[in-house]
Amino acid sequence: MAERSIEPDTPELRARWGQFAWTQGWADKAKAAIARYPEGRQRSAVMALLDYAQRQVGEETNTQGWLPIPVIEFVARELSMPVIRVLEVATFYTMFNLVPVGRYHVQVCGTTPCMLRGSDDIIATCEKRGMHHGHTTKDGLWTFTEVECMGNCASAPMVQINDDNYEDLTPERMDAILDALARGEQPKTGTQEPGRHTVEPAGALSTLTAMVDENHDYRGEWA
Ligand code: FES
Repeated sequence: MAERSIEPDTPELRARWGQFAWTQGWADKAKAAIARYPEGRQRSAVMALLDYAQRQVGEETNTQGWLPIPVIEFVARELSMPVIRVLEVATFYTMFNLVPVGRYHVQVCGTTPCMLRGSDDIIATCEKRGMHHGHTTKDGLWTFTEVECMGNCASAPMVQINDDNYEDLTPERMDAILDALARGEQPKTGTQEPGRHTVEPAGALSTLTAMVDENHDYRGEWA
């Protein structure tokens, strides 16, 4: 679980983020998100606005982005919401970072299917590079957290790094991905298994074989 306590509110934090305001691009996106909801329900856009704010902070800090309390207050003002309501959302969802993070946020799934398929080795690969749970490496490149199931169990083990998932990992494949990111390159996302496209069976099809060529109706064959 990622750090769920907010960064302390200090004069330095206020000095850096107290004047936070949208850049034009994020202002346009925020306006569009708010406009999706009926009159009186604009607060429903709170998750979108927190996400946009985190991304703008990321652009300004060359990191994945996070939510300093003055930025959370800014979002509250944008939606005429009590700050505590916005804070409740930000602290509940782990997609929101509450403390500064690195350029890349490496979230390794350690739940049972990933664990059975080798997530301990993926974690060890990260630790060899100085990553430790809940911390950012000294060079500011990596923030590491272990997380619960992210819904890619069929291509376990997997990690999410910023907005992308990398699946069917081995220590060697994980090393190659981290090396590419460190060089500023964009590695192939999704499954890393050669010849596999998404989460289709890794070997020959063993179930629902009649569905290969057509949308076969199995219901008449049920006992
Ligand atoms: S257990 Fe890792 S993605 Fe589901």
